[in-house]
Amino acid sequence: MARVDTSTSMGTNLSASAPLDESELNALREQFPTLQQSVHGKPLIYFDNAATTQKPRAVIDALQQYYCNDNSNVHRGAHLLADRATQGFEEARIALAKYLNAEAAEQIIWTRGTTESINLVAQTWGRSQLSKGDEILVSAMEHHANIVPWQLLCEATGALLKVIPVSGDGELDLEVYANLLTRRPKLVAITHVSNALGTINPVKQLTEQAHAAGATVLIDGAQAMPHWQVDVQDIGCDFYAFSGHKMFGPTGIGALYGKRRLLEAMPPWHGGGEMIARVSFEKTTYNELPYKFEAGTPHIAGVIGLGAAVQWLNAQNREAFCRHEDSLLAYAHAQADDFKGITRIGRARHKAGVLSFLLNQSHPQDVGTLLDQQGIAVRTGHHCAMPIMDQYRIPGTVRASFAFYNTHQEVDALFRALHKVVSFL
Ligand code: ALA
Repeated sequence: MARVDTSTSMGTNLSASAPLDESELNALREQFPTLQQSVHGKPLIYFDNAATTQKPRAVIDALQQYYCNDNSNVHRGAHLLADRATQGFEEARIALAKYLNAEAAEQIIWTRGTTESINLVAQTWGRSQLSKGDEILVSAMEHHANIVPWQLLCEATGALLKVIPVSGDGELDLEVYANLLTRRPKLVAITHVSNALGTINPVKQLTEQAHAAGATVLIDGAQAMPHWQVDVQDIGCDFYAFSGHKMFGPTGIGALYGKRRLLEAMPPWHGGGEMIARVSFEKTTYNELPYKFEAGTPHIAGVIGLGAAVQWLNAQNREAFCRHEDSLLAYAHAQADDFKGITRIGRARHKAGVLSFLLNQSHPQDVGTLLDQQGIAVRTGHHCAMPIMDQYRIPGTVRASFAFYNTHQEVDALFRALHKVVSFL
């Protein structure tokens, strides 16, 4: 699977294939104001990137520029500020469509994030296409956001949710998947990267198989977008859902990519302004794509900030970032495997930057609190993926999740801190 879409433009400010060297990393980190602080008297080590990523100055500046200079509603005003806001808003859509290699900008629907994108598909495509006895396939490693919307849909329609099992290493059971496809499910909804385990799923292959069985395919891309440039046409999926805040943009904004013929056939979801062509008490007709799904005043600043994040990412060498993250993960795995008392959860062959683990019999939250006191931010708990935690018969894990701005020295500091944690607990 191609990790980076090499057909799209790549920046030239970092060497083409080598991982980042120290000066490149320092220059990169300087662009992230949040990383320049101490917490509990220690330099911050931010290893909670799967929960949300930090924002480069370019994104923060774009938000400030919008609120200080261009603040206005979009598509509605007859004045200059409205024109500027609308232009920024629509340019961000075009930039994101290009970034994803979507066929057209109107196939990018703004939402609050991955969760809302998936709910949109469930409540519009799902309610119009599924009926009693139809099957939906999800995997055992899904985030709750890619489980619960389908459960709600099943309750409403009588459709059935089926689960693709996951091995002890955290990989999909592809044999069972192939068998489940012989039952001709209507939908396969699967994560690109597991937030709890880090597993990278072979979504292109899964999509091809699902299409051959007549199923529509939705990919939860929340955890893939921070790591490499996703190409939705290469994957071939029907829907791709993701969040801005996990790809260095603002919170509260995300998007749904969809195939045009599906989006056009889907009924609207939220009713209100902008999503209409004409309203009367006798009959209301709906707007064209993408506005049919964008009722109400949108998160304009969020869209502009996400556009700035895309522009910033376009100017970076994503291939070097990927190699650096792979190197960080391999380094962390090696140290974890040498550390007496650590059990790694999730040992898939293909992983993105997630080290999920247990330390002796300690409760993950205690470990997290003691790491925080040493300046290290991790997430602990079930990571909104309770079914996979149940499969491993654990309440949760400690999760260190990496981004390109993390360093090998920070990984060393994590393991030094864990030695101290062991002596406390
Ligand atoms: N889904 C996010 C995480 O994995 C919040 O932490």
